[in-house]
Amino acid sequence: MNQNHQNKNIRKILISEKEIQNKISEAGNFINQLYDGKPILLVSILKGGFIFLADVARKVHVPCEIGFMTAQSYFDKTCSSGHVEITMDLQQDISDYHVVLIEDIIDTGRTLAEILKILNSRNPLSLHMITLLDKPSRRIVNCKPDLALFQIPDVFVVGYGMDYGEKYRNLPYIAELQ
Ligand code: IMP
Ligand code: MG
Repeated sequence: MNQNHQNKNIRKILISEKEIQNKISEAGNFINQLYDGKPILLVSILKGGFIFLADVARKVHVPCEIGFMTAQSYFDKTCSSGHVEITMDLQQDISDYHVVLIEDIIDTGRTLAEILKILNSRNPLSLHMITLLDKPSRRIVNCKPDLALFQIPDVFVVGYGMDYGEKYRNLPYIAELQ
């Protein structure tokens, strides 16, 4: 099986592996400057953010811990309010941490806004959000990242952690499907 097997459904590469790698240190720098002697917790919501988190974490040069969550969203198509259930939670009591949420993509912002509300209610020392991709034209709920590495138009993308039907997460670049 060769490379083409997976690539035949790719329309075009939107962001190359090199472009992603060149930008990652901006996220690392952002986290490094948050350090004030208190612990930092990098949080990823599985599964989309796992590759971005792994790359960002290696650009962090201050003491930090890593945490994972999973969430299930229930939204009505026509209504921006909804319900988000945490299906796997953090192990840390975040009241002792500066928390940085590391996201793959902000689309409508609905799931993320709910998760930020939940995390905020646990009184972290601070709460910031970094996203690899931002699709501002799709926003339904106000949800502004502290740092977005790339803004993209309203297209469905895969790769670098993001999937279509659980496939393509392993692509080292970000691509548009056919
Ligand atoms: P929202 O911002 O609450 O609408 O949801 C964002 C989530 O939807 C992201 O964390 C992704 O898991 C998924 N998502 C949104 N847009 C895309 C895309 O273009 N490709 C792959 N997943 C996407
Ligand atoms: Mg996500």
